[in-house]
Amino acid sequence: MQDTGDRAPTRPDDRTIRLDAGSWGWTWSADDDGRLHQVGLGPSGAGAALDVDAVWYPDAHPTWGGPDPYRPPALRITHTDGTTTTRLRFSGVERRPGPDVGDEVVRITTIDDEVDLRVTFCTRTHRASGVLEQWVEVLNDESGAVTVWDVDSIAPAFLVGPEASVVQFGGSGWADEWAWSAERLTPGTKVFDSLGGIQPHLQRSPFLLLEPNGPASETSGDTVGCSILWGGNTRFAVDVRPRSGEQARDLRLRAGANPLGAHYVLDPGRTFTSPVVAWTWADGRQELTDRFHDWTRARVLRDPDRTRPIVVNNWETTFFSFDHDRIVGLVDRSADLGADVFLLDDGWFGTSHPRDDDTAGLGDWDVDRRKLPEGLPGLVSAASERGLRFGIWVEPEMVNPRSDLFDAHPDWVIRDRRTPREHRNQLALDPLLGEVRDFEVGVVDRVLGIAPGTSYLKWDANRPVTDPGSRALPPDRQSNAWVDWVHATWEVMERVATAHPDVELMLCASGGGRTDHGTLRFFHEFWTSDNTDPVARIRMQWACGHWFPASTIAAHVTAWGGRPLPFACAVALSARFGFDLDLEALDEEGTAVCRRAVALARRTQDLVQHGRLRRLVSPVEGEDRSRAALAYLSPDGDRAVVFCFQLDEPTDPPPDLLLAGLDDDATYEVAVTDLTSRRESVRSVPGSEIRRGALGWGLTRALTARVIEVRASGTRNRSGA
Ligand code: DGJ
Repeated sequence: MQDTGDRAPTRPDDRTIRLDAGSWGWTWSADDDGRLHQVGLGPSGAGAALDVDAVWYPDAHPTWGGPDPYRPPALRITHTDGTTTTRLRFSGVERRPGPDVGDEVVRITTIDDEVDLRVTFCTRTHRASGVLEQWVEVLNDESGAVTVWDVDSIAPAFLVGPEASVVQFGGSGWADEWAWSAERLTPGTKVFDSLGGIQPHLQRSPFLLLEPNGPASETSGDTVGCSILWGGNTRFAVDVRPRSGEQARDLRLRAGANPLGAHYVLDPGRTFTSPVVAWTWADGRQELTDRFHDWTRARVLRDPDRTRPIVVNNWETTFFSFDHDRIVGLVDRSADLGADVFLLDDGWFGTSHPRDDDTAGLGDWDVDRRKLPEGLPGLVSAASERGLRFGIWVEPEMVNPRSDLFDAHPDWVIRDRRTPREHRNQLALDPLLGEVRDFEVGVVDRVLGIAPGTSYLKWDANRPVTDPGSRALPPDRQSNAWVDWVHATWEVMERVATAHPDVELMLCASGGGRTDHGTLRFFHEFWTSDNTDPVARIRMQWACGHWFPASTIAAHVTAWGGRPLPFACAVALSARFGFDLDLEALDEEGTAVCRRAVALARRTQDLVQHGRLRRLVSPVEGEDRSRAALAYLSPDGDRAVVFCFQLDEPTDPPPDLLLAGLDDDATYEVAVTDLTSRRESVRSVPGSEIRRGALGWGLTRALTARVIEVRASGTRNRSGA
């Protein structure tokens, strides 16, 4: 349902600007006064034009003091002379070819002539996926500084039904990322924001699912998905207004950086650029996910076609307490199981202030020879002698007050005039200081230098911003820091990624505190959450899989929750697989389960990481949330892998496991394992029957799982098995 897209074009003209995402679009048009209206949005939206007889079209990007005094603005600026209003007049549009064939960069320029401000609405299309990337640039042509209070990156207007709903992603904070929370919208403005600066996505991930006609299904229903590419605080605002005498309502969605406390004082001649927002309009949630996965692979991810390794991490096994022999023992067992990378986590550094817990040592990136007398080279060699790559943990943006770094540079930290508060016994370094940025880049250079051969790095950040301030900024520019910190941090990350193109980078911030598509551009994957209880992880991975391909979603088998090992392995196998388990303590049966899991990963990881995700049974919606099932399909439909999880004791009859996307006329070999025994049941089933549910549920007890490999008869998987 859309208000403006289905009107007949009555006056095609050169002031009508189509932002064409392929299967849908957003069309703006300038009226005779230069006011920019939204005239079309949605699947038919790219074809709309201004209807001169129409009574009202929404403003394309409302401003404070603009023509509509009743609705919240998406742009609010105080000008040099104190004027608080902004009125933009269309001045021109420029279209250039985009980064991919058939794509465009469209720049719609507007001017407020009374105050000499220029605002450009920018779009980069990605028609192959159906995603628009949009942002706003504010150029201050005035004689003095202006204050930018609010600049949303997009502000589309919708006509929605009474059941219009949203899904937000976020829970209570640490270890509760990606909580699925759906609600029906009622009139008023609802804000979904995040705070904390460095790890804002611990509480709310920067994604929103808007369903204008009520909850969509996987395969049908209007679904609008929105991602804010911002490594800082973000905000979605959904403003719903009733329409007199009608069921339908007007809805405005605004998305961008969270302006709370972050107004930006912009000097003359300077441009303020809002974060990119990537969004799409899909028919059903499955299409939304296909689009975001395609776009992420095409426009965001580093080395998107490279299959990610099986990683073993020591964090949950040892925490800070380990020595050379303990790590070599774990490396040994990792090699024995057939992993690819051994990742040494926190606690390996600190000399005058050894890092024996989280109270000391952060900032001092020299190896602790008490624990590791052979240094890092001793561990790199131990790994490579056993056929493993070596990885290491760093937290370059932080410092413990008990450290040599803090003794030498107490003035390097983020703080205002007050004594800065510690969080996890640490302070954050201020990346607006050039020497700090150089130091942070240098941390990675140094660590990779003292551990030559290291090819994997986990980049952590374990505290929020609490006392915002920077000595790099004058007193009247302190609020600029929130925006400038993101750009400065991205500069550091980009320098690291450029200097070390062959090192795989994991993005982590106390778990999934930094899971946005903007920061992910410099990384290969993220640590989804410190919560590795497989029951919690099924729901988290379900939610974040809507936006990210499984190659980016690191999922390690741990002892968290004390769940059965085959179940924990199956959950980790459904994303980027690895272990964070005491492998030395495994008994014979545990070792056998892990071996089977690694063998299964080898057979399925190309499909899991590069295939099409299909969600079959939801653990977050509906009456029965005791089960989950998802599948990954090869693009040509000759293979699939299906994961079924029974989370609680079953009370309802088993769900139908309906898998579409295979060839109805082909016959498939179906191999089922629950990882508890070497034996897998194998049978042949026609594709048409699989579509109708022939795979069957087959789980009768809580905390059990089945992994079903489906392969067209006569095909081989990539590992040749
Ligand atoms: C938080 C991370 O999320 C954990 O995985 C671990 O690396 C610790 N930090 C180490 O301090």
